[in-house]
Order: sequence, then structure tokens, then C-alpha cells
Amino acid sequence: MDSKEKAFVNAKDIINQFTVIIRTAYIHDPGNIAVTTAMERFIALMSPFIEAEGELMLELRGEFFYINDKRVRYPLEFLPNFDFLSREFRRRGLGSIAFKDTLQHEDIRIFLKAFIASIFSETTFETLEKSMSGIDSIKVGKLKKIRTAGEGEPDVRRVVKKTYFNAVSHTRAVMSKLKAGEEVSMRKTKRVVESMVDLILEEEQLLIGMTSIKDYDEYTYNHSVNVSILSVALGQRIGLNRKALTELGIVALFHDIGKIEVPKEILNKSTSFTEQEWDIVKKHPFWGVRALLRMKKIDYTSIRSAITSFEHHMYCDLSGYPKPRQPLELDFYSKIVTLTDNYDGMTSSRVYARIPMPPDKALSLMMEKAGTQLDPTLFKFFTNMMGIFPIGTLVMLDTKELGLVYQSGTMFLNRPQVLVIINSRAEKVESYVVDLAEKDSDSKFVRTIVKTMDPNKYKINLADYLL
Ligand SMILES: [Fe+2]
Ligand SMILES: [Fe+2]
Repeated sequence: MDSKEKAFVNAKDIINQFTVIIRTAYIHDPGNIAVTTAMERFIALMSPFIEAEGELMLELRGEFFYINDKRVRYPLEFLPNFDFLSREFRRRGLGSIAFKDTLQHEDIRIFLKAFIASIFSETTFETLEKSMSGIDSIKVGKLKKIRTAGEGEPDVRRVVKKTYFNAVSHTRAVMSKLKAGEEVSMRKTKRVVESMVDLILEEEQLLIGMTSIKDYDEYTYNHSVNVSILSVALGQRIGLNRKALTELGIVALFHDIGKIEVPKEILNKSTSFTEQEWDIVKKHPFWGVRALLRMKKIDYTSIRSAITSFEHHMYCDLSGYPKPRQPLELDFYSKIVTLTDNYDGMTSSRVYARIPMPPDKALSLMMEKAGTQLDPTLFKFFTNMMGIFPIGTLVMLDTKELGLVYQSGTMFLNRPQVLVIINSRAEKVESYVVDLAEKDSDSKFVRTIVKTMDPNKYKINLADYLL
């Protein structure tokens, strides 16, 4: 092994340690001993590398980090840190950081300050770049988008919206074709789901935001797409690759396909089901299997879909339905779909005439089922993804401002970004986004969530704000 290769062995540790510095700097002042210690270790890890190569270029391309053009692989225990760092990069439009051999402690300190402050600026990357312009040993580069969705936020939102509604209408088409006894192939579904997966990899939070809009006429189609999005996003968090994510997305999209056989009058009932009606509804897992195995070609994905359709109401402890004859462990995809289906069902209004539950309440109810009905590890990843206050939650701040959670907090789960719609004088205003991680000059948080509220009570239509 030459010195270059030897240095590369540390690549994953370098990135991991870099994340540790940033996480520590979020909590402590850059002069704090915890930050200094983390920085020393970082520099020690980097030195042999910079000595061998003259420069260390850390770059984010798509979902992966590269060091000097070489993709960095890492063990699973590093995943939360790598995930955190890539989101921090993306939030700032930051694509690369080059460290040169003249690197000093002080330079890193300046970088950390600039890095953290930049998130509160409207032009995140430009602000960061400007603050670093006097430092020669650290150079930042702009994030290159792999997919060109046009420049700027509004276009990204447009693409997200289009992808979402495209998936809804595709689901509607597939379900009505199956209902009419026509043959359906998996090919188009695969393409639709692939485009969702690509978008989730880049704009996870925006897609999750789409699932929080529950105001629709046709519950089943939107619900299927929501469960698919939430499942793929969760799958991404636990490190599934793109191929597996696509498969999971399809499986999740089809979990309720058996509902095509449930009479519309029952499905759209606005009052509770009678016992006989329940017996019919409870057959949809079987009917799903039947529909899926009738697809044009039976392949691995259709079989996995059939399994999940069959298992998605069983629960991990088999306390649901149908009851299997022998004890069994749910398929991995079924465990994921059980979780996301539960969440979307509880937070939607059209499921079995239930009143929609605020997201935080749904999560706390699910917490009670984690370890019995729901898989506890997956649930942990899920809450981490949704934040304590999922997107779309209506919250009251200590400033008396009222707003909707817009993007979950990367550093503090209880400090998301909030879209304020009612100001502290109880006036409806042109909405503006505030970041609850923001601190004032005394290092105190500027705003804090006091409580969550029910948007229906206030006649607030999420779709008006999030679309
Ligand atoms: Fe179902
Ligand atoms: Fe469902």
C-alpha cells in the first residue's frame, strides 16, 4: 500500500469527524474545548492525506461523498452522520470544500461560524462563500444539481407537485384498469416510482410535505402515493439503495390495491362500519394478492407486493388481520409499510370516517405501539425523519406567532423551520419562514414552539400554504 492509499483508508473517518465538529459547533461556541478537541482530531486525521495529495477535496455528488474524486464508502454506524452532513450541505447549496496544506485551527473556526450563520441567510451559499473569501486554506464550491429542475425554489416545488399528482393519477389508472379486468404491466409503474425515488433522494422534505396535505376527494389514490413516498423516504434513511427503494416504492404503492373490490358505498362511508361491512373491508389484503398475481408478468416485485398486501394489517405481533395459521415474521417491506400506512391513515380524514389526527399526536400514539405492533427500530428512524413536529403541523410559538412546520430541524428535532401565517398580534399576514434554531446575540433561541394546534379548528387549509 503506498502512502496515498494509506491516507485514503481514513477517508470515511475524516468525513465522520468533520460531521462531529459541525454537530459540536451547533451546540457549543466555536472556542469551546469540545469543538477544539474535535478539530484537533480532524486535523490529525487529515494531515497525512494532505501531505500525500497536497489538497483534500470533500465533495457531495448526489447521495455520495467523494474525497479527491474517489467515492467514500462507510460502515452502517456512520450513516446518521453522513446523512446529517449531506443534508447540511444541501440546505446551503454547498457542493464541495477544499482543504489546503496551510490549514490552521483558526481557519476552521472561521469556517464553522460562517457555516452555521449562513443557514439564516436567504442566499445561503453566497453568504458562506463571501465569509470565506479571505481564507486561502479552505475553499467552498457550489452544489451541482444532477437533475436540472430549472433554477430556484419555485421550480423545484413545481416538479415535486407534478411528480406527486402524476403518481396519483397513475395509481387511479392502474386501479380502474384492474377493476375492469384489464391487464396491467408493471413497467409504467416502475417509471413513475423511479421518478419519485429520484426526487425523494434530492428533495425528501418537500415530498414528505406533499403527503401532509390531506384534503382530497379520492382518499385511496392519494393515500397509496403517500404511503409510497413515506416508505421510500424511510428506506433511504435506513440505507437502501436506489433499486431497493424503487421496489419498496412499488410495493407500498400497491399495498391497498385490494380495495378495488370493496364496494364504493362502503369505502366512502362517512359513518362507522357495521360488523358486516368490516368483514368486507378486512378482505382487501387477500383481494390485493389476487389482483397483483393477475398482473401481466409475475416477477419478483409483484410477488413482494403481494406479500405486503397480504401482511400490511397483520402488525409485527400478529394482533391485526388476517390471522396467520402459524406464527411468522413480517416481511421487511411489510414492516415498513405497516408503519407508514398507520401514520398516513391516522393523519388523514377519509379513512373509516375518522377525524384526522394532528401529526404529533399520531406519532405519540404510534410510540405506544413501537415494540409490539410496530417495529421499534424502524419507528425510531421514522420519528427522526418526520421530526417531533412533522411537516404541516400547526404550531403556536412563544412569540404568539402561529405557523406551519415547513421543514424538519436537522440539528434539533424540536426546532424545525416554520412558515408563520399569523403574527404575534393575531393578524393574518403574508407568510414568512422562520428557523427555530436561530439564536439572538445572547445565544438565546429567538422562537420556541409552545404547543401544537388543530388546523381544522382554525379553518386553515394546509394545501393553500404548502402547494
Ligand atoms: Fe389496507
Ligand atoms: Fe393503507
